Amino acid sequence: MKLRCMAICCLLILNLSRCDGSVSVGATAVGLAGAALYAGFDKLRCTFYECCSNNANWVKPNMTALNIALEAQLHGQHLVRHVVSRALKAHLQNDNPSKALVMSFHGWTGGGKNYVSKFIAENMYKLGTKSQYVHVFVSTVDFPHEGKVDIYKLNLQDWIRGNVSRCERSLFIFDEIDKMPLGMINGIKPFIDYHESINGVDFRKSIFIFLSNTGGPDITRAMLKMWRSGKNREDISMVDLEHLTQLGAFNEEGGLHKSEIIQHSLVDHYIPFLPLERRHIELCARDEIIRRGHKATKDLIKKVADEMMYFPPENKLFSTTGCKRISQKVGFLLADEEYNRLFD
Ligand SMILES: *[C@@H]1O[C@H](CO)[C@@H](O)[C@H](O)[C@H]1NC(C)=O
Ligand SMILES: *[C@@H]1O[C@H](CO)[C@@H](O)[C@H](O)[C@H]1NC(C)=O
Repeated sequence: MKLRCMAICCLLILNLSRCDGSVSVGATAVGLAGAALYAGFDKLRCTFYECCSNNANWVKPNMTALNIALEAQLHGQHLVRHVVSRALKAHLQNDNPSKALVMSFHGWTGGGKNYVSKFIAENMYKLGTKSQYVHVFVSTVDFPHEGKVDIYKLNLQDWIRGNVSRCERSLFIFDEIDKMPLGMINGIKPFIDYHESINGVDFRKSIFIFLSNTGGPDITRAMLKMWRSGKNREDISMVDLEHLTQLGAFNEEGGLHKSEIIQHSLVDHYIPFLPLERRHIELCARDEIIRRGHKATKDLIKKVADEMMYFPPENKLFSTTGCKRISQKVGFLLADEEYNRLFD
């Protein structure tokens, strides 16, 4: 009996890892009653190992913190800030949502799509993107072969089912969804549809985020048009870009293209990431310089911004790569300065 209990204790406490050094912890608890023991240890286990339970602190969305992070660190994306925080808040506060939350992020690279997904993970789970309840799939890495669509689809369904049965508040991020083999996305449909449960598993509290580069050119074209007519960037509203969704601009070839998910309107929010201007590049540069522990002088910020490329040729309004690669540029310029100081 004693041995068996100890084995169970070890199993609970150490999650099947080493049982050697901690035998005394298990031994002191041997006298406790079975049920209390189990509950106690389960609670104890949740203090050390990530748990999904409501009383543990591992899954604890903090929308205030998310708003602060987006406000301070996401530059030039007022629409994203506005929609993402409201959509999440509404879904998280609802104890009985009618379906899983599905957000589709669109726009050029470097606009901050990955960045925002990271912030969401970090402010929902204590372990952030390292949480076992956060699942990131990158099409070109996880689903590279067109010919294997059927296998991928089955695997993905198993994973979603398996993971949501372990934790209802799971977050699934699909990067490069535009590069996902055609037809595969339909495999997700049952999980994001209006079903109360499928074989006893309720998927409605989970969150799905799709990232893709589609829509970038259309968003930019619309932006240029508004810019020419004298409209301020900050005054652009979702309504101004809504027609793009209706035209299907966000659903060019691949991924969501002609998918049942689109046809059944299962995506709750299409969120456009606007192309960034030079002033936003400067803000990203400033953040990065400070993050590296250096003084963000005007001169240095200007140097970083000068290194980036801008389009269209006639007014060089937008950065071609957004804030992507800023980190490398800053790193290079700082190393260069250091070098000059030492050797010139
Ligand atoms: C949420 O985040 C804010 C800002 O970081 C912090 O002040 C607050 O204590 C957090 N709330 C909870 C419940 O952790
Ligand atoms: C959860 O998802 C991951 C992929 O992110 C997969 O490897 C794992 O097997 C899934 N777990 C379950 C229990 O299905």
